[in-house]
Amino acid sequence: MKKSVSRRSVLAAGAAGMVLTNGVGRAFAQAAGKNINVAIIGAGVQGRILLRDALGIPGVRFVAACDIRKFSRDYAMGMIGKYNKRALGLPKEQQRPPVYDDFKALLADKKKLGLDAVVIATPDCWHAPITVAALEAGLHVYCEKEMAPTIEKSHGMVAAAKKSGKCCQIGHQRRSNPDYIETLKMIRETDLVGTIKTCYAQWNRRAGEKLTWTTPLPDADLKKWGFDSMDHFMNWRWFKKYSAGPIADLGSHQIDIFDWFLDAHAAELQANGTDDYYKDRAWHENVQCLYKYHTPKGDALAFYQVQNTNNFSNYFERFMGDKGTVIISEDRNSCYYVPQPGVQPPKWMMDADKVQTIAFDSAGNPSSILVDGYSLTSAFENKGGAAAEAMKLRSTNNVHKLHLMNFFASVAKDDPKLLNCPADIAYQTAVAVLSVQPALESGNKKKFTKADFHV
Ligand SMILES: NC(=O)c1ccc[n+]([C@@H]2O[C@H](COP(=O)([O-])OP(=O)(O)OC[C@H]3O[C@@H](n4cnc5c(N)ncnc54)[C@H](O)[C@@H]3O)[C@@H](O)[C@H]2O)c1
Repeated sequence: MKKSVSRRSVLAAGAAGMVLTNGVGRAFAQAAGKNINVAIIGAGVQGRILLRDALGIPGVRFVAACDIRKFSRDYAMGMIGKYNKRALGLPKEQQRPPVYDDFKALLADKKKLGLDAVVIATPDCWHAPITVAALEAGLHVYCEKEMAPTIEKSHGMVAAAKKSGKCCQIGHQRRSNPDYIETLKMIRETDLVGTIKTCYAQWNRRAGEKLTWTTPLPDADLKKWGFDSMDHFMNWRWFKKYSAGPIADLGSHQIDIFDWFLDAHAAELQANGTDDYYKDRAWHENVQCLYKYHTPKGDALAFYQVQNTNNFSNYFERFMGDKGTVIISEDRNSCYYVPQPGVQPPKWMMDADKVQTIAFDSAGNPSSILVDGYSLTSAFENKGGAAAEAMKLRSTNNVHKLHLMNFFASVAKDDPKLLNCPADIAYQTAVAVLSVQPALESGNKKKFTKADFHV
């Protein structure tokens, strides 16, 4: 029985509910007798998103902000000041926190500030030095992905986290996303997909212009922090000194899902890329790679593509098994299940809203229906219980906030085992991702051993 297509209900699900799937959210609320004092380090585009989301978490207080750029420092201080005034009603003299341009000076003041944790959203090249210094200072760390531009530096972060015993969460936020967690449960517990044989993921985006600036950073500051020019400072993602390129920037999120869902590490890797569109960037803008996995259920192939010329169908991950296909994404409109012909899904799935993937003609009008599927959001709501609660949690919190909630819940209990993406898990993804460029350059098939993934 086919319900009429309800795009409205699929969209509505995106604005409806949200859940902390491992129950840690509740634990945090209970354990939060004492505030967690935090500093943001790196308050650019992503740092401000994390700041906005973390400010709204009960028990979290931002007591300092650090950035090498005055504009970012002022921006962060403004956000924190406004929150302290309006939401917390703090007296004027307590509203605006101290700001730092040097993370070492911030860490030296940790006692004065009563600092418990730092949230790091600098360019990738600074993740490892700041994370290691903060862990050595006895602080908990939330650090954005990609861990570091090299396997060696990522390794150092894991070693420092282990030695410190502190929480070190890496920003692969899909690991705390109920849509992903419930889908993985569905794959493992209800076998709706069957044995996964092939996986595909992509991040397709348009060619974009480089970022420009109005006020340059003084030359002395650029030099002190290792940036060769303002162009490099603004567009660090495209240069080898600061980042591992689009495959790390975007691919790290999605290649992480291959490992997680397949419950295995890659065994083999081949890669290729092109770099003929932009003339002034160091990294390949289009990269494709193919992993082979030896999973507990047999061998599987996983193909990944990052593209910077054409954004057709954007970003998602797809898992295909002998019983069905699952498409999952941070975009909730792109999360659906398609059974193989002859497979009878349970009622909670059959009653879910239908999703149709459609093609568009050059005028932007729908031209043909490609596939019928069942909305995962709607299916999990129908399933009831923990799955329905998870959908409520997801619809009332954005993806970064959920990952931060998991981090602060773990900090409140001083227990790294509660983290959804601790450094050692993120390291396994970093090894798979950061091996792409060497494989691409050598043209050889990379063969991994189990030891490659462990510190
Ligand atoms: N999880 C996600 O979905 C997601 C999304 C976007 C970006 N990110 C990650 O967030 C990080 C920041 O990305 P962005 O887009 O905000 O970059 P950005 O260039 O907009 O911001 C970086 C900020 O860090 C500051 N900075 C640079 N070096 C510093 C240092 N040594 N100490 C203190 N501050 C320093 C800069 O002045 C700037 O304000 C990157 O690691 C990126 O990969 C993650």
